[in-house]
Amino acid sequence: MAKLWAGLTSGDTDIIADYFNSSLRFDCKMYKQDIKGSMAHAAMLAAKGIIAKEEADALIEGLSSILEDLESGSLAFDESCEDIHMFVEQELTGRIGDVGKKLHTARSRNDQVALDMRMYLRDEAGKISALLKELVDAVVTVAEEHKASIMPGYTHLQRAQPITFGHHLLAYAMMLLRDIDRISDCVRRMNVSPIGCCALAGTTYNTDRRMEAAALGFDGVVLNSIDGVSDRDFCLELMGDLSIVMMHLSRFSEEIILWSSWEFGFVRLDDNYTTGSSIMPQKKNPDMAELVRGKTGRVYGDLMGLLTTLKGLPLAYNKDMQEDKEGVFDAVETVQLSLQVFIPMIKTMQVRTEAMKRAAQTGFINATDLADYLVCKGLPFRSAYKISGSIVARCMKDGEVLETLPLAVYKEYSDLFEEDLYNAIDLNTCVEKRISEGGTSVSSVEAQIKYVKEMLEKC
Ligand code: ARG
Repeated sequence: MAKLWAGLTSGDTDIIADYFNSSLRFDCKMYKQDIKGSMAHAAMLAAKGIIAKEEADALIEGLSSILEDLESGSLAFDESCEDIHMFVEQELTGRIGDVGKKLHTARSRNDQVALDMRMYLRDEAGKISALLKELVDAVVTVAEEHKASIMPGYTHLQRAQPITFGHHLLAYAMMLLRDIDRISDCVRRMNVSPIGCCALAGTTYNTDRRMEAAALGFDGVVLNSIDGVSDRDFCLELMGDLSIVMMHLSRFSEEIILWSSWEFGFVRLDDNYTTGSSIMPQKKNPDMAELVRGKTGRVYGDLMGLLTTLKGLPLAYNKDMQEDKEGVFDAVETVQLSLQVFIPMIKTMQVRTEAMKRAAQTGFINATDLADYLVCKGLPFRSAYKISGSIVARCMKDGEVLETLPLAVYKEYSDLFEEDLYNAIDLNTCVEKRISEGGTSVSSVEAQIKYVKEMLEKC
């Protein structure tokens, strides 16, 4: 197939070089954006008198027939084409004749590819935000059911203080809400049109970039033509945001993996989201959660790959930039797929409140409350901390727990201890007294649930 750019050179390239150079096998994903962009371009060229109205009509009609045929599957991509832009142009000229050759007036593949990428990624980012909203909704539903289910809260993976499962889950809801916000912020910056930047310097034709941008749903135009064709920061920014999404999902997965182990037994995953072992019949493995955790590294890799590709490039376009696509497409698809299994996994997960409660009853997670009890009776916190520590040490030595240690023993440590200490260190009291904003009491958790729901309405 003769190259559309054959002119100075023969256009004959080595077959492996052709394959190496071609991006059609992955940029064909952007066929819809490419064609829509071309339709808007043809309309703008006619509106500005650069081509005739009838010519624009023929171009637009030809382009829409290509779109239809690609959608229906009756047209296949011609693998000998270098990229999606060349394929569409070649197909168009094949269908409508020489007028097809007018489409590429006042643009270049350099601004065209930047346009397609921005359009494609804003659409995919929208799908990811919708999935994230669904996840937040699923998380807040489970959190509401378990706003009073007591579990141990951990620091250093050591039992620390009593919290509720609802409170713990809402921490993830808050993180995921910020992820949604970050993505919408990224899309706001992404959503300016580079078309009309042309090869790098702009054009001598009397184009209207803003008309074309508005027709394609952009909020504005890239204001420097060299910037418009040179930078891929919008890809990096999205991948940065997606890396953070995956980091959150990965931590959540890690906890689900721990919680579903025999050692914790806090949750039981639905059979749809676990696998068995080919040798050990007792196994129920949390493969989906492990894969989400595993795929996080892959999304980070996609980000690192493009950062590295871009770091030494002189302005403006260089072919290295074709390397933006596979990584960013992979990141987008990995996040989408991860969310598609993660959401139903959360929705169907059984929560074992009894096991959580049991775990909360050992480990002295009310030791802080014991110290606070003495503080309420007038002792400075540091002294109270010391006394509580000695009592815990004694309990550990004797195999006792704070709840059943006799008052007489407490009194050996401080005269301030009275019968009411048992109520103060009761796990329900410990949770209920933490009414500070954002804290673990049911009322604080209810306020957090309300906030998350309000945010979901808004975003
Ligand atoms: N396939 C190319 C890419 O993805 C399109 C731009 C080609 N521009 C050029 N001057 N060779 O980057």
